[in-house]
Amino acid sequence: MFTVSNISFTDKAAGYRELEKSLAALLTGERDFIANCANTAALLYQTLPDLNWAGFYRLAGNELVLGPFQGRPACVRIPLGKGVCGTAAARRETVLVPDVEKFPGHIACDAASRSEIVVPLIKGAKLLGVLDLDSPKLNRFDGLDQAGLEQISRVIANASGF
Ligand code: SME
Repeated sequence: MFTVSNISFTDKAAGYRELEKSLAALLTGERDFIANCANTAALLYQTLPDLNWAGFYRLAGNELVLGPFQGRPACVRIPLGKGVCGTAAARRETVLVPDVEKFPGHIACDAASRSEIVVPLIKGAKLLGVLDLDSPKLNRFDGLDQAGLEQISRVIANASGF
């Protein structure tokens, strides 16, 4: 049985290294992408401080479709290029938003969200979807979060088969 350990983020880089180890253990031996996204969303939501939403959108044709998540119910479909998620997917790069009110076209799913980070999930040349984290705090995410979450996205993409 996997137990979520008490990972400290006082030292953020060290916290992400611990989180990555926990995630690798959690996903060991499982190739199902949806199951891996579901357990990752739960692990991130239980572990990272100051989040009000953590989850995935998967690529389906020319749009993103809601995947496993923790938090309030969210919008289901986001066209590529729209919102923070669609922008990260279209650019295939992380989009870090310190203040969602200053991001033109931000899609508000939970009125409590103040800052957001969206990281693309890429396997080889293929975009699988995006990892999206929302916070009720302004400026919650920084470069250390970006580096840690990009590493976590690689772990999920590598663990899952297609
Ligand atoms: N804010 C996102 C939409 C998804 S929710 O935050 C869960 C966006 O602008 O794409």
